Amino acid sequence: MVYLPGETLELTAEDVANGGWCVARPPGSPVVFVRHALPGERVVARVTEVTSKFARAEAIRILSASPDRVDPPCPHARPGGCGGCDWQHATLAAQRALKAAVIGQQLRRLAGVDRAVTVEALPGDGAATAAGLGWRTRVQFAVRDDGVAGLRAHRSHQVIGIDDCLIAHPAVSGLAVTRRRWPGVASVEALAGAGQGERSLIITPARKRDARAGATDRSVSIEEVTAESVVRRAGHRLTPVRGRSYLSQRAAGREWRVSAGAFWQVHPAAADALAAAVLAALRPVAGDAALDLYCGAGLFAGVLAPAVGPDGTVTGVESEAAAVRDARHNLREWPWVRVRRGDAAAVLRRGGLPAARIAVADPPRSGLAREVVEYLSSPPAERFAYVSCDPATLARDIGLLLARGWTLAGLRAFDAFPMTHHVECVATLVRP
Ligand SMILES: C[S@@+](CC[C@H](N)C(=O)[O-])C[C@H]1O[C@@H](n2cnc3c(N)ncnc32)[C@H](O)[C@@H]1O
Repeated sequence: MVYLPGETLELTAEDVANGGWCVARPPGSPVVFVRHALPGERVVARVTEVTSKFARAEAIRILSASPDRVDPPCPHARPGGCGGCDWQHATLAAQRALKAAVIGQQLRRLAGVDRAVTVEALPGDGAATAAGLGWRTRVQFAVRDDGVAGLRAHRSHQVIGIDDCLIAHPAVSGLAVTRRRWPGVASVEALAGAGQGERSLIITPARKRDARAGATDRSVSIEEVTAESVVRRAGHRLTPVRGRSYLSQRAAGREWRVSAGAFWQVHPAAADALAAAVLAALRPVAGDAALDLYCGAGLFAGVLAPAVGPDGTVTGVESEAAAVRDARHNLREWPWVRVRRGDAAAVLRRGGLPAARIAVADPPRSGLAREVVEYLSSPPAERFAYVSCDPATLARDIGLLLARGWTLAGLRAFDAFPMTHHVECVATLVRP
């Protein structure tokens, strides 16, 4: 049977699939990836996209509901609505079980590893934040031609007007980005720092011509913006318009300077939990040589540095100039830490790094560059903590590492993005 966009189908959602989908396998027809369904449910779904191999659809009516189903707390988390949250219609416990199933699936398929996975809640979820809401300290709002700021529909450029984003941290919601107009602006990113509670807005003008002329300053009255700092983005360039261009974040018992455009975990408890998990995975001792690849503002290098002490070394590698500046600033108290700027593969290829016994890597979604896998697999690295936000590339890379003599000694997963399909993993790999 050939599907047509817009047609409705009666389907049974079988397993969960990576990316916030369930899979339906109608007999004799291509598989259908269904959003807004839960495994085991019988649904009526509207086809949204058709390819030569499969179709995508969204459940518009639930014929037999899963016991894990709840009413989504946000009115925009529905078919045709906002694309940000994938699992608001499931209990938090069920969301974590779905993410655990996806990690297990990817490991089996791509690494040939059978392992039961538990997704751990982060401290604060369900208490300070109302059951998985109010955690997101960084939200990017897209702006329509009429100046209304909202969130994008799923797999679409359409901007959905919203009052509040329920997963946004109260400090971000307090900036009321969606309650005013943004003429001449393409996007507004709202950020909150957990360190001193300050907030920042990154404003991207709608057109390059306007960005060059500084039109944002004229068309949007910055005085009305309550954020402590305002930054204008033009391409890769971020220019402070008011206040400073970095936030202060808190993790591992101290504060970290993080530039507005640089990476930091968006859940306020995530950086702390991941830093502790990396320390537990690597078991650093005095005198160790450690490597922190894709080091961002230096979080993992900063927890390894005091552990390896002045007889050891820590080398961070990071490609973004602003993050490198932050890392050098954050790590300046330990002269045995060096931060090298550049693409991780290129820096390793160039050589000259101390031979690392322990290494951590926290790459972007695309996973480890092949050269990084080869470098880590040449002696003498013994323990490797792989921090990943993508179960598919994590499993692919674990498969490559296992084939090069590593053993998977542990795998923890953290619900750092409640209500969405995203999850953070820390895999511990060891070599005898
Ligand atoms: C997921 S973040 C991790 C940052 C840091 N470990 C943390 O927890 O805050 C990935 C980092 O890798 C950097 N990055 C992306 N591609 C890179 C590459 N090819 N080589 C080096 N760094 C890269 C990004 O700029 C970003 O800071």
